[in-house]
Amino acid sequence: MRIEGRHYRTIWLDGEAVAVIDQTRLPFRFVVRRLTSRDEAVEAIRTMVVRGAPLIGVTAAYGLALALREDPSDAGLAEAVRVLNATRPTAVNLAWALARMRETLAPLPPAARHRAAWQAAAALADEDVAACEAIGEHGAALIAGAHARTGRPVNVLTHCNAGWLATVDWGTALAPIYKAHDAGVPVHVWVDETRPRCQGAALSAFELHAHGVPHTVIADNAGGHLMQHDRVDLCLVGSDRTTATGDVANKIGTYLKALAAHDNGVPFYVALPGSTVDWSLADGVREIPIEERSATEVTHVTGLGDDGTVRTVAVASPGSPAANPAFDVTPARLVTGLVTERGIAPATREGLLGLFPERRLGS
Ligand code: MRU
Repeated sequence: MRIEGRHYRTIWLDGEAVAVIDQTRLPFRFVVRRLTSRDEAVEAIRTMVVRGAPLIGVTAAYGLALALREDPSDAGLAEAVRVLNATRPTAVNLAWALARMRETLAPLPPAARHRAAWQAAAALADEDVAACEAIGEHGAALIAGAHARTGRPVNVLTHCNAGWLATVDWGTALAPIYKAHDAGVPVHVWVDETRPRCQGAALSAFELHAHGVPHTVIADNAGGHLMQHDRVDLCLVGSDRTTATGDVANKIGTYLKALAAHDNGVPFYVALPGSTVDWSLADGVREIPIEERSATEVTHVTGLGDDGTVRTVAVASPGSPAANPAFDVTPARLVTGLVTERGIAPATREGLLGLFPERRLGS
């Protein structure tokens, strides 16, 4: 993504440190943070300085490299994997990235692990960029197809932030939009604000604006109304964990959008890299762990005051309890298709295995 004339990934090396964009400060401040230890990486993931399924996976991989600089022993490796794994529960990319790192590093002598960890983390980052760009190419064909059918600009509704900021570059759900826009296909994005943390209003809007893509921020509850009035051609969202059967966990509120899309005959696509598929699960509603976050995210909002200072203010009646499940699961029957780096599949076990045949039992 280009920000003020410079291309940025969301994570890169800066000398001995790992540099990330502090997403808790966006859209009002563009602040780069340097992570210099395992514990700083843990904290960055936990407090959502970095967030989005693919990016937390890559940050954990770099966090492991930072940990091995201090302690490359077997015990150090095991402890770092454990601590990094415990930062956020829903996005499976985190466990996937750490498992990949451990497979590479555990067989090596401890003295060789630190250097190898930097290389392995960098390879994961590059892989993520390639996967997201390929998702963009496949998904852009859907948008171009919708334009060819209607002759109008294509209205895409998205939820949360599954863009550049949620990955290393490009994004998942937003990558097709960037590719279509760059190819001259007229596209407009309805951006769900995505309470309670407002990843749509704060982050997706920031990215789309930076890329010059026409978009409109809407209240989370506006989508159904817009669909009833033919103002949404397709929904495109990301995923934090998708079961082998095509059930999709994503930011809280995604399920309600899928229900509204189903009721209105609007195609509902989910964009995800293969690293987001949890091949061990078959029933997303029952089996995917859903993160419960602080109630203050619901009772308070953070924004820019007229005086230019960023402030957090209460919006709920003081003293009322609040609950904050951060993700929900959209059953596969409501998903039109899964847009992956290998192409678009139906949200079924056979559909996914068609794209990832190496996952067939016994292979
Ligand atoms: O809590 P967050 O901001 O980490 O949640 C992010 C999402 O739900 C994204 O939609 C998902 O990670 C897909 S990212 C490409």
